[in-house]
Amino acid sequence: MTQKKVIFSRRQIAQRVEELAAQISRDYTGRDLLLVGILKGAFIFLADLARALEVPTQVDFVRLMSYGTSTETSGEVHITKDVELPVQSRHVLVVEDIVDVGLTLDFLLGHLASHKPASLKICCLIDKRERRQVEVPLDYVGFTVERGFLVGYGLDCAEKFRTLPEVYEILEPEGEG
Ligand code: IMP
Ligand code: MG
Repeated sequence: MTQKKVIFSRRQIAQRVEELAAQISRDYTGRDLLLVGILKGAFIFLADLARALEVPTQVDFVRLMSYGTSTETSGEVHITKDVELPVQSRHVLVVEDIVDVGLTLDFLLGHLASHKPASLKICCLIDKRERRQVEVPLDYVGFTVERGFLVGYGLDCAEKFRTLPEVYEILEPEGEG
């Protein structure tokens, strides 16, 4: 049995998503937005955020793989599904579930920048600080945590717990960690 405790409730998440959407809608007033979600983790956050935005918005996705175990990034990132809509001259907002070491987003930003968007910003649900190696500019952040392995609201542990409506922290089994 995996022990876990709620760290962000449905209500907290819903409220924070509304706040982020209001801020983004203000910042992009008069412009069209292209949301680029990172699969799979961002799919629920993106779905809620996109529906709360008040600017014309298109949606695309990328899928990135980084080698490693279920809880550790190895550092080598590659694209297994690229964007399909043109990025050039678009206002692109990358939507990510959680930023940890920072390598995944750093890689994607370089990739998207090479397509010459009009602007390129990042919105992440959770900024996890402790293990950051690459400082990526996070323009919109839902929540900040120092450490811990989180699941739910799109985030998984070896494909488990993605569809839980709250965000949980996985607790180390007794006698370990
Ligand atoms: P990084 O910033 O290069 O370490 O990569 C971040 C990615 O690692 C996220 O998009 C997730 O897919 C995964 N990840 C990092 N921390 C967690 C976590 O606490 N729960 C679930 N996935 C995580
Ligand atoms: Mg992810």
